Amino acid sequence: MQTTLLLFKPDTLHRGLVGRVLARFEEKGLQLVGLKLMQMSQETAAKHYAEHVGRPFYDGLVEFMTSSPIVALALRGPDAIAVARRLMGKTFGIEADPGTIRGDFGCSKSYNLVHGSDSEESAERELGIFFPEGVLDWTPISAPWLWDDE
Ligand code: RTP
Ligand code: MG
Repeated sequence: MQTTLLLFKPDTLHRGLVGRVLARFEEKGLQLVGLKLMQMSQETAAKHYAEHVGRPFYDGLVEFMTSSPIVALALRGPDAIAVARRLMGKTFGIEADPGTIRGDFGCSKSYNLVHGSDSEESAERELGIFFPEGVLDWTPISAPWLWDDE
């Protein structure tokens, strides 16, 4: 089992898509173990996007992510990091496949609705930024139907 960090970006909130986007992850069988509505500070954005410092899109990305509230989520499941990334689709909706969140809900080349950790190392690092208090351990009653014993 893995836990991954998802962010619903400001466009998801402005467009009223929080419920529908969250449903994609829930329906897939990823378990919600952390959820918060928050305003991302400059400091948190700098920490979270440290790997992108110096890229041409960096300043615009930080400005966008700090412009209005976001939702931070911790999701758990088998291979949750890769599973969530596949549900999200390619970086921008214009090239993301139909059936993915980015492919179904957008065709912008700037805004892309969601962020998802891309490796175990980044998941651990990003969960520490957004859920320093830790996540909530609980067992969904549907677990035996969703997940294999491993
Ligand atoms: P994310 O980190 O948000 O889950 O998205 P990703 O892995 O698919 O994309 P990544 O390459 O890590 O880029 C991080 C975010 O930066 C913005 N971006 N803009 N204008 C551009 O060329 C450009 N490239 C990246 C996007 O918001 C992307 O999600
Ligand atoms: Mg990324």
